[in-house]
Amino acid sequence: MTESGVWFAPGRANLMGEHTDYNDGFVLPFALAQGTTAAATRRADRVLELISRQRPGPAIELALTGLAPGTVAETVPGWAAYPAGVAWALREAGYDVPGARLVIDSDLPPGSGLSSSAALECAVELALTALAGADVPRGELAAIARRAENEFVGVPSGIMDQSASLLCHEGHALLLDCQSGETTQVPCGARMLIINTRARHELTAGDYGARRAECEEAARLLSVPTLRYINDCGDTARINDPTLRKRARHVCTDDQRVLQTVALLRAGDYPEVGALLTQSHASLRDDFEISWPEADVAVEAAVAAGALGARMIGGGFGGSVLALVPGEPSAICDAVTSAFAGRSWTLPEFYDAVPSAGARQVA
Ligand code: GLA
Repeated sequence: MTESGVWFAPGRANLMGEHTDYNDGFVLPFALAQGTTAAATRRADRVLELISRQRPGPAIELALTGLAPGTVAETVPGWAAYPAGVAWALREAGYDVPGARLVIDSDLPPGSGLSSSAALECAVELALTALAGADVPRGELAAIARRAENEFVGVPSGIMDQSASLLCHEGHALLLDCQSGETTQVPCGARMLIINTRARHELTAGDYGARRAECEEAARLLSVPTLRYINDCGDTARINDPTLRKRARHVCTDDQRVLQTVALLRAGDYPEVGALLTQSHASLRDDFEISWPEADVAVEAAVAAGALGARMIGGGFGGSVLALVPGEPSAICDAVTSAFAGRSWTLPEFYDAVPSAGARQVA
């Protein structure tokens, strides 16, 4: 039985399909090289001991048997709810999680829309299941980690981020049908850049949940189980309420853009993929109304400086932009930086977005 080891889980960027996952639609994320490690050692007692290299302070100790939603959130720092929630959800799923000391380290900037939460959940999950001697299928691990986030942490997210962290392959984007759970690895040789706009997002803020509720209401008005089941995006015109009409139109058109992007990637047509990225950004800005000023300026400046296309990624209201670039991106980075400097905004950060392998044991 495994006594100790180090497990790594990556963050993600999403090429296409935003706010489509909880509408039973399609998403096309890829894993980043950046992520989170959990160095784990078994403990003889039933205590979860948590240490974060990013949040210095005394170790947090939680009794595994006492974990339940609502019992931990107020007494421990926010980040610790994620590993605690994973331990709870694994036990709920019938896995006998042992006591463990977990030292967490990460090179993902939190609140940047790159799924630092899912990376933390998935690294901890691989560590705890290895210590438990349980070989759990990756799709089931994604569902358990999502349950931890939804029910224990209290964030009503979909399944995309955990799936990306656990299921992605190097050099590929992951086409995930969130209705059937079917996955397809799509080769992705595009050169991409992440622009962290440094405007932070907090998914726990109510806007994400408000969008979910609007999508459910739009589906009800169209008499479909979820927005996935709209046959023709033109049908959304039947919704009288202008806001709900726009929300449904975004979800339907972004679902279509996912499938179009897959075909274009297979054909190697990166300029057209770029054009779809920029269309998706306009849809997120105007129809779904979750963009933010720094993202709009970053997209505009990147495209004006030669990017093939760009869009905000993730839940919205802050975080990062993904740009498809034709080659070496320094002119694009300079253009975005000077657009921010001209507005006296905190300067953006740039990372290469290289489709990388999913979660794994690294030591
Ligand atoms: C967050 C959620 C995901 C997904 C995206 C938006 O990252 O965790 O489930 O809904 O927002 O596409």
